[in-house]
Amino acid sequence: MTGTLNIDIQKTKKSRVSEQDINDVPFGKCFSDHMFVAEYADGKWTKAQIMPYEDVPMSYGTSVFHYGQAIFEGMKAYKNEQGEVSLFRPLENFKRFNISAQRMAMPDVPEELFMAGLMDLIRLDSAWVPASETGSLYIRPFMISTDEAIGVKISDSYKFVIITCPAGKYYSDPIRVLVETNFYRAVKGGVGYVKAAGNYGRSLYPTKLAQQKGYQQVIWTDSETSSYFEESGTMNVMFVIGDKLLTPAVSDTILDGVTRKSVLALARDWGMTVEERKVSIKEVFEAIDKGNLKEVFGCGTAATIAHIVGIGYNGKDYDLPPVADRKFSTKVDETLRNIRKGKAEDKFNWMMKVM
Ligand SMILES: Cc1ncc(COP(=O)(O)O)c(C=O)c1O
Repeated sequence: MTGTLNIDIQKTKKSRVSEQDINDVPFGKCFSDHMFVAEYADGKWTKAQIMPYEDVPMSYGTSVFHYGQAIFEGMKAYKNEQGEVSLFRPLENFKRFNISAQRMAMPDVPEELFMAGLMDLIRLDSAWVPASETGSLYIRPFMISTDEAIGVKISDSYKFVIITCPAGKYYSDPIRVLVETNFYRAVKGGVGYVKAAGNYGRSLYPTKLAQQKGYQQVIWTDSETSSYFEESGTMNVMFVIGDKLLTPAVSDTILDGVTRKSVLALARDWGMTVEERKVSIKEVFEAIDKGNLKEVFGCGTAATIAHIVGIGYNGKDYDLPPVADRKFSTKVDETLRNIRKGKAEDKFNWMMKVM
């Protein structure tokens, strides 16, 4: 796309928004009226348009189905009590999208295209943003390779698409996790630091095995030594030991989460000592033994904070402090929710108003 951006907007003839209670729909299954689509061909982005949500007829030979050039983002729009709609740190998702694109040999999406497509789409579908206390509109930008050809090579053509779905009462029950030392989510030199679709496919089998043993999620460890914590499921992981907040430093095996960044910024703002470094299994279990481990939680866009109340390692299960005693993660969860809903001061300028 060169010069000024021209997005063609075709509105749906009949909105489906009143057909369900958007404050109470199952997550991820109900898509809003419109979608944004742009196509990449001959070295440039073209055909930027917003159109009614529809299925795509595609050739079974389309390269994405075979070689996995597919990346995505996950972010949310929120509605405050005045009915205004805002996005939470969307430029962070935009930047990470292009980091993913680069690693997967896909074209960059220009900021103007990403942001204008996103803002126009959310404005048009603002009636789909739940107004409930914990509600939001989940936004899924993604890019796929679209060459119709079998044969491993970088595709010449792509589609960049944004779809959205209401997330009514998103809340995560406290979870029990299994420390995974046989399967790895990410390896040195791999793609763990980006949101490539294949990262999620490979995580399903180990997660299924953990669930069969009664855990909700796994905590991934490093593939070289199996001695350091990396992430939990599709969340960054944090530990409060004594009065310090510890989290694995971002690396090529750890996603640079937007929620992670925000939690760390709040913790530092509140005067807490924060350490971003390798966090060993050994030190965490020593802290459990000494009674110094106060809180363990996962953080990410979907749930914000997921309290981890039990951890399995080497055939033994350990109970962690109850949620009621967790001052830091409870405060951080509430503060982030309040900032997003316009009920607390946005001193870091994280919210971007859509309308
Ligand atoms: C592997 C992984 N880690 C961490 C996160 C949390 O990132 P964010 O806070 O940007 O949602 C996600 C979700 O996007 C993820 O998929």
